[in-house]
Amino acid sequence: MLTQQDNELICRTGPDTAMGNAMRRFWLPVMQSSDMPLPDGDPQTIEVLGQRYVVWRDQQGRPGLYAEGCLHRGASMQLARAEGDGLRCIYHGWKFAVDGTVLDTPNVTDPRFKDRIKGRTYPVREAGGLLWAYLGPQGEEPPFPHWAFMDQPDAHRINARAIVNCNFVQVMEGLVDSSHLTVLHGSALARTNDSDLDYAKKTSHMQFDASPKIEADETDFGFHYVAIRETDGKRIARVTAFVTPCFIANANGDVWLAIVPIDDERCNFYHVWWDAEKPIGEEPLRSAQLTFVGLDEPTLRKYGMTADTCDSPAAMSVANGFGQDRARQRNGHFTGLDSITQEDAACSISSGPIRDRSLEMLSTADLAISRLQRTLLACARAERDRKEIPALRAEGGRAIGVSAEIAEDEDWRRLVPHHPIVSSGAARA
Ligand code: FES
Ligand SMILES: [Fe+2]
Repeated sequence: MLTQQDNELICRTGPDTAMGNAMRRFWLPVMQSSDMPLPDGDPQTIEVLGQRYVVWRDQQGRPGLYAEGCLHRGASMQLARAEGDGLRCIYHGWKFAVDGTVLDTPNVTDPRFKDRIKGRTYPVREAGGLLWAYLGPQGEEPPFPHWAFMDQPDAHRINARAIVNCNFVQVMEGLVDSSHLTVLHGSALARTNDSDLDYAKKTSHMQFDASPKIEADETDFGFHYVAIRETDGKRIARVTAFVTPCFIANANGDVWLAIVPIDDERCNFYHVWWDAEKPIGEEPLRSAQLTFVGLDEPTLRKYGMTADTCDSPAAMSVANGFGQDRARQRNGHFTGLDSITQEDAACSISSGPIRDRSLEMLSTADLAISRLQRTLLACARAERDRKEIPALRAEGGRAIGVSAEIAEDEDWRRLVPHHPIVSSGAARA
């Protein structure tokens, strides 16, 4: 349970909010490379943390992220002309390179004027099929994170993005909530019995034991937690890592997730799978994986989870019954929703645009949820109180998720020996 004040503190991420400013101190993924404009193509507007930006690539393919409004008098850079080495604002013709260098100011006679000013652009990098941006105070960016999937070529990686119409915190809570898997995804997990996908093999055992034992440790990068299930006389430990402020290394070991607010009531949910051995980024493996979890384009569009459908009547809501197929449910499917992605999204969205956490009743099953809430609170409070933000300088990319069998008397922490623990097992629901 959180007070309404604390709930607001972790959920609000717009300009001049504590959590929003804290998040701006980190490198964040803001777009998939596959969704970006082609070199010298049309600029494109995106929204991150309640603010709009314009993305563009110059003719050399270098990415640029511009504040939406032109430096001069604020016309949108989305209207700008793509001119090879820079974007030219159509209002008075000021022209900006992707690094903010001002190339031309045709309505100013002084030719040196442009050398004294700088366009409003932000540091960006491309890695792992994502465009990353640093939106915080100038010159204070932390080291760029290095995650295992960034070392994989495109053919060995799957990137997928879903838009979820609710606050980012409730989506993240679902990702550190192992006990819902057995229940909510029961029908989807039953399909794993007949699937050859690695993903299916890694999740199949979760059909059994709906009350896993949960423990959580605070680490230097955020926290990790375990869900231990007993099935067929085996103890299976699933360790998930949460990396501040919005990253998750899933216990499957080959799935990484980032949840980045678009605004306070909508978020981008980025997924990355990788496999050094198999070209999972190529067909038919790519589509098989995406379809299995409901991240294929037709299913996302059916539920209003793409950029062009998230404001349409298809978007999950009370009015359309969240897209639930009640006949299918009566015929035995547990939820009547297409797959895991839609089941998670329906539960997250249905509790309101920003869930009121003063009304919730956490239990021992929710140790990781309460740990997440406290991790986010610490992050927001540090920013508010002008203290060092926890995890900002930690090497979050070293955090991994892992799932493995452990012996009766074995400590699950040996599965993640390199995760530096700050405080152990003390999470309270
Ligand atoms: S507003 Fe862009 S050049 Fe004047
Ligand atoms: Fe889920």
